Amino acid sequence: MRNFTEQSITDAALGRITSECDPRLREVMTSFIRHLHEFVRETRITPEEWFKGIAFLTECGTFCDDKRQEFILLSDTLGVSMLVDAIANPSAPGVTESTVLGPFFRENPPIIANGGDLAPGIAGKRVDIDCRVTSEDGAPIAGAQIDCWQSSPDGFYDSQMGDGSAHNLRGRLTSAKDGRFWFNTTLPAAYPVPHDGPVGALLRAMGRHPMRPGHLHFWVQAPGHRQVITHLFVKGDPYLESDAVFGVKDSLVADFGSQDGPRTKVHYDFRLKKAA
Ligand code: BEZ
Ligand code: FE
Repeated sequence: MRNFTEQSITDAALGRITSECDPRLREVMTSFIRHLHEFVRETRITPEEWFKGIAFLTECGTFCDDKRQEFILLSDTLGVSMLVDAIANPSAPGVTESTVLGPFFRENPPIIANGGDLAPGIAGKRVDIDCRVTSEDGAPIAGAQIDCWQSSPDGFYDSQMGDGSAHNLRGRLTSAKDGRFWFNTTLPAAYPVPHDGPVGALLRAMGRHPMRPGHLHFWVQAPGHRQVITHLFVKGDPYLESDAVFGVKDSLVADFGSQDGPRTKVHYDFRLKKAA
């Protein structure tokens, strides 16, 4: 087959997928090629614009290393990460909702005993976090593993500080007999997603800001239950309505108490769905 036209080239590209292709890959690539061709037809993309797009993706690649993932950031800021999450983890009554993982999770965080400090040496308003892990029926879950991570009050994760090797503002806890886990840390503040790269330039070009409302990240896992990757957002934060990565859900907005004074506190129950 030759002499493809604006219309016939789509079926030609789809027809090149052979029977050797894995069925799921065929399904995904067929849809991807169809939508991509339709996007080009609909927008009448010019060769200059297409090369600009390729240069953008190339720059995203050059920004990536073991501490920076520009493609996840792109997916997050275009709302795709939350869309994928909404399909994988649909909201269910009485179960804690999930939200975006983000690029700052790290394996092997420090182990923090209940009552410990997640942010040693970090200046800022202190908050006592007092939470519980329960099953969807409200029964406490002992021995759940909770990873928690957050930015500093000036908006940086540990991997963005110094040479990025120190672990701070993160830790792994275990729930006690009554399902409780508790620790103290600094009150999280709103901060911008990394915006010194191509994704930041794209946000600016679209007239968007890069801010996320103040939050703590949680990854809660317990035997016999579905894990949840989520956040607690600070009630009253000005960016709750315009989170750069579309991650806010009402059920995850928590009352961190009065913003006056040196110390505040928050309570929250994480309710996990029983594994099927
Ligand atoms: C975060 O909350 O850590 C985050 C999420 C998505 C993009 C950038 C940062
Ligand atoms: Fe974050």
